[in-house]
Amino acid sequence: MEVINSIKLMQEISESIRNSGKKIAVVPTMGYLHMGHLSLINKAKEIADIVITTLFVNPTQFGPNEDYDKYPRDFNRDFELTKNNGSNYLFYPDTKEMYPINFSTCVEISRITEKFEGAFRPGHFKGVATVVAKLFNITKPHYAIFGQKDYQQTLVIKRLVEDLNFNIEIIIAPTIRDYDGLALSSRNTYLSTSEREKAGILFKAIETVKSEIAKGQRERLILNSYLHKTLRQIPEIKIDYASCVIANTLEEPEFFLPGDEVVILIACYLGKTRLIDNSIIKIPYSLNESNFKEDYI
Ligand code: PAJ
Repeated sequence: MEVINSIKLMQEISESIRNSGKKIAVVPTMGYLHMGHLSLINKAKEIADIVITTLFVNPTQFGPNEDYDKYPRDFNRDFELTKNNGSNYLFYPDTKEMYPINFSTCVEISRITEKFEGAFRPGHFKGVATVVAKLFNITKPHYAIFGQKDYQQTLVIKRLVEDLNFNIEIIIAPTIRDYDGLALSSRNTYLSTSEREKAGILFKAIETVKSEIAKGQRERLILNSYLHKTLRQIPEIKIDYASCVIANTLEEPEFFLPGDEVVILIACYLGKTRLIDNSIIKIPYSLNESNFKEDYI
């Protein structure tokens, strides 16, 4: 595996791979890799000839009071993991390479970014869309793999690709979870031992709502109240949002209807650590319809 720091060199390499008729898949990351990231690399290997993993902790997607400075970083570990998992290139630029002194452009996506993460993290999706557009132009992929873990981000990327006509197929991979259902995240390393023991409550809240849907509950506010009630079992939790909404539009109807794809979205602080999770469930047409679609599995 080759590590590439220069944008120009990465573009030349990608161009020559494309000219040779091979397919490129990119896996954008901010590093401190875990099994969730590695599952995206594995997916990339399945569908493309060449895998480019990108590692860049993007300052523009962090708010002024967020954790940019203390975001976990370990290049040597990430290098070994990407290499051992079969990535062909690791694109690892520094901040000056990505944002030179005259940098003045951004990609701003409206509507889908206005609620939930976008409301609680102003400017976050502007930073994400801008850096991802740059990474697409740098790595010139045929495919780009993102995790369902960051659900609203997947909607933003799909909108970016459609609105700005990137000729790239976006693939969403399922969330990889720990033993108790906690979604793997680089930020989980911030949790103390006792917080970590309590963090499974997010998954429990999601499972509770799913079982209420399976029993026939269709009223959105009642479903939301199950989420809140479950999360409040842990006094150290401060909820940013916990809400069931229509999956592809984030709309909030009074009642869900058979066939609706609903995403259950949670963002909360456990102590000082912000955790997010989600799950998609399709409202069944009848109560004895047992294996209704869940997530992108
Ligand atoms: P990061 O948080 O490092 O995540 C990189 C990719 O890994 C994202 O697509 C994310 O959804 C996916 N991922 C994270 N945890 C996962 C899990 N438990 N299971 C499956 N996939 C998981 O998301 C970002 O970086 C940045 O916003 C980025 C897109 C790189 C732009 O800077």
